[in-house]
Amino acid sequence: ERKSTYEVAQIGGDGIGPEVINAGVQAIHAVAKKIGTFTVNFMELDWSSDRYKRSGKYVPEDYIEILHRYDAILFGAVGAPDVPDHVSLWGLRLAICQPHMYANVRRTKVLPGISSPLKGLSPGDLDWCIIRENSEGEYAGHGGRSHRGLEHEIGTEVTIFTRTAIRRIARYAFQVARSRPRKLLTYVTKSNAMRNGMVLWDEVIKEVAKEFPDVTMDHMLVDAMTVRMTLQPKSLDTILATNLHADILSDLAAALAGSIGIAPTANIDPSRTMPSMFEPIHGSAFDITGMGVANPVGTFWSACEMLDWLGESEASQLLMEAIEKTCADGIKTRDLGGNANTQEVTNAVIERIEAL
Ligand code: NAI
Ligand code: MG
Repeated sequence: ERKSTYEVAQIGGDGIGPEVINAGVQAIHAVAKKIGTFTVNFMELDWSSDRYKRSGKYVPEDYIEILHRYDAILFGAVGAPDVPDHVSLWGLRLAICQPHMYANVRRTKVLPGISSPLKGLSPGDLDWCIIRENSEGEYAGHGGRSHRGLEHEIGTEVTIFTRTAIRRIARYAFQVARSRPRKLLTYVTKSNAMRNGMVLWDEVIKEVAKEFPDVTMDHMLVDAMTVRMTLQPKSLDTILATNLHADILSDLAAALAGSIGIAPTANIDPSRTMPSMFEPIHGSAFDITGMGVANPVGTFWSACEMLDWLGESEASQLLMEAIEKTCADGIKTRDLGGNANTQEVTNAVIERIEAL
């Protein structure tokens, strides 16, 4: 339900994470002030690779209890050049998200003033919502290594699919599809080559589809889906895929929409047992860390998703409008071909919030 004060855990993490989250916090304060009915308190948590290098842990022992105190989590990125990526990802991001935040929601559209690498595509022509199963598949952590260092060394990553998790993500995806004007859901599997778990996906989705007769559904194999996304982007709306497939397809989606720097992610616990986590899709971008040029738009858009999830849809729409106006006015970071820095884009968004 709506509140007058929201408590948000602010986890900048590594690299450009703290830079873009700092920008996001400024934009959220500005939009809350403009709306005038609520405020947001941010609690900065230093959960990062620096903490790991100091103490051996990304998060405190009681981190789940700590997170329960908050209405939402605003997250930057995790990953440091001197920590293996599987250690940082599992130490922080997956520790927070699994298994409660089982719906990873990634909206993509071409914003005004930003050009897609696809020819002749204008704003509105690519408007997708990708729903990624966020708790299992290849990323369930099931597997192992044996015969270490020997020629016959084995590494397995066992793909886990359960009826329960497929059903709950399918219901969530159908609900999202139903809430959008086209009421169109494309689900993606690879049930020709993977004849067990992927066939289970197909079966469970068809069962759930019966609960949503008003939603039009179609099915794609993941390899063919990359072709359709590139050549017929207007034919897609809501997209449902596994953890691995949607991870890859959503990076493609972000690139097709103009830059990895603008794309948002919401890690949703639809049961609202845990606070949900909102983050830009990009990583910690060591190559531009500390230069002040990180694109904050992915974080702003993630903040829109957060406000919407908290029930502040007016604030969410206002912030989105300010982002679109800023992009349309050509105030962009260099990944989008502009020359503004992070703070200049942030100031421009705040000015437009105040002016709206
Ligand atoms: P990345 O997303 O950090 O960077 C890829 C490229 O995009 C770089 O050239 C970077 O400069 C650019 N870029 C990314 N975000 C940008 C922004 N906001 N503004 C302007 N340019 C931007 O992916 P990469 O390089 O593969 O990974 C770097 C680290 O981040 C690794 O440790 C990886 O594990 C981690 N990572 C973490 C994620 C997370 O926390 N959710 C997601 C992806 C990667
Ligand atoms: Mg990814």
